This record gives sequence, structure tokens and C-alpha cells, in this order.
Amino acid sequence: MKIHILTLFPDMFAGPFADSIIGRAVDQGLVEIDIYNIRDYTRDKHHVVDDSPYGGGPGMVLKPEPMFEAVEAVKGDGEVPVILLTPQGRLFNQTVAAELAGREEMVLVCGHYEGVDERVRQHLVTDEISIGDYVLSGGEFAAMVVVDAVVRQLPGALGSEESVGDDSHSNGLLEYPQYTRPQSFRGWEVPQILLSGNHAEVERWRRGQSLKRTAERRPDLMERVALSDEDKELMARVEREEI
Ligand SMILES: C[S@@+](CC[C@H](N)C(=O)[O-])C[C@H]1O[C@@H](n2cnc3c(N)ncnc32)[C@H](O)[C@@H]1O
Repeated sequence: MKIHILTLFPDMFAGPFADSIIGRAVDQGLVEIDIYNIRDYTRDKHHVVDDSPYGGGPGMVLKPEPMFEAVEAVKGDGEVPVILLTPQGRLFNQTVAAELAGREEMVLVCGHYEGVDERVRQHLVTDEISIGDYVLSGGEFAAMVVVDAVVRQLPGALGSEESVGDDSHSNGLLEYPQYTRPQSFRGWEVPQILLSGNHAEVERWRRGQSLKRTAERRPDLMERVALSDEDKELMARVEREEI
């Protein structure tokens, strides 16, 4: 996969992309991430990237010319998705991350200040993504969130000891509770079932806890999950504290 990121602040990406899963995926050649400074695509002497809004009002708006020049230069003639990070876009979630993880190449465009000239949205980008209903100062953190969630879904990106399969939101539910050593900590015990060695019972317990947790914390998610008869029975057993 190739990800091109257009930004006015390329240095912001150095740390977050150097380590952990993204750093490893880059080292393994699973993903190539190229960062471009939008300012490098200006043609005027002062490398101006923004200007005041027509009609008046506060702040500065990113000019269209460097945005178009930058996107056209990095993507060439190919059918590459051009995604604008914007609080007005479709909401990013695990399903969108999985969808993007299936692409071979994409361009992420980070806005800043008051945002980008509307003609960028109308005639340059092919998709708009928001990472939540709040306003960030720039699209850089949003692009990092998108890249992290997408890259960890690429086959081979996670170590053998990690898996996206049971992650919250991967199967529509929140993940079950996790425990590690010590078995007893300040008098709080690890559930006995996890020590039993009975894999089938452990799986049932985890599924039951996952259902219970989702129902309690995110009833909105439960409405979209197709519950099997076994799921319903499991939830009843969890309620009765049988498992
Ligand atoms: C201060 S915001 C501009 C917000 C714009 N005036 C509006 O109300 O829609 C500057 C830039 O941050 C990025 N941004 C802010 N919030 C975001 C969010 N929730 N998701 C994705 N990008 C966001 C966008 O790239 C945006 O152009």
C-alpha cells in the first residue's frame, strides 16, 4: 500500500510514524508513507498557501492552486482516492478503516486554519473523512489516526501474538475483558474460567462478556448485531452470573 499525505506541517508525522506497528509495517515494506509539504507546490515568490476568506470573516483559507498542484503531482493519472480530512466528512470507524485497507494507494489531504477552498472539496477530492464530531486545529492528527487504524489491518502488520480479529468494533462488538499475571492483585482475582484450560468454555465466556459489555456501554451497536440463539443464551447466563 502507498499512502501520500499532503500537509503544511510534515515534521508532525516523524515521531508517530517511526515506531510501533506503523514503523514496523514501513520497515517490512507493507506500506510506503510519503509526506509532502503543500508549500512546495506554490509558484509565487513567498510560497503563499492561504488567504483571507471572500465575504469576510476570521481566519485564513487554504488556497486551491497549491492543493491541486500537489495532488496532481503525487497521484499522477491513476484512479487514486483523494481523501480530505474534515470535520464535515463521513465518520471514520472500523468499517471505513477496513475499506481503506483494501486500497493499494490513497492520498490524504490535511487542512488547516479555517479549512480549504470549497473548490478543492468539489473538484479535487473523492472522499471526505471526519474522525469525530469535534474540531481539530489541523488534519494532521486525523491523518495519523486514519493511517494507524488502516495499517494495523494490513495482513502481516501485527505480530503473531497480536490480532485484529477480536478487537473492539471488528465484529460489531466491544472486546471482552483481558487479564494477565499476577493471578491475584490486591485481592482482585482473575476469573477462574480463564485459568481452567478449557478453551471452549473460555471462548464462550469471552463471547458472553463481549455481548454484555457492548449491551451495557454501547446499546447503539447492539441494535446492528445479529444475535444467534447461542448469543442470547450466553447473555442470559452472564446476567445470571453463571459464567
Ligand atoms: C480548524 S479546522 C477547520 C474547520 C472548518 N472551519 C469547519 O468548521 O468545518 C482545520 C482543519 O482541521 C482538520 N480537521 C478538524 N477537525 C477534524 C475532524 N474532526 N476530522 C478530520 N479532520 C479534521 C481539517 O483538515 C480542517 O480543514
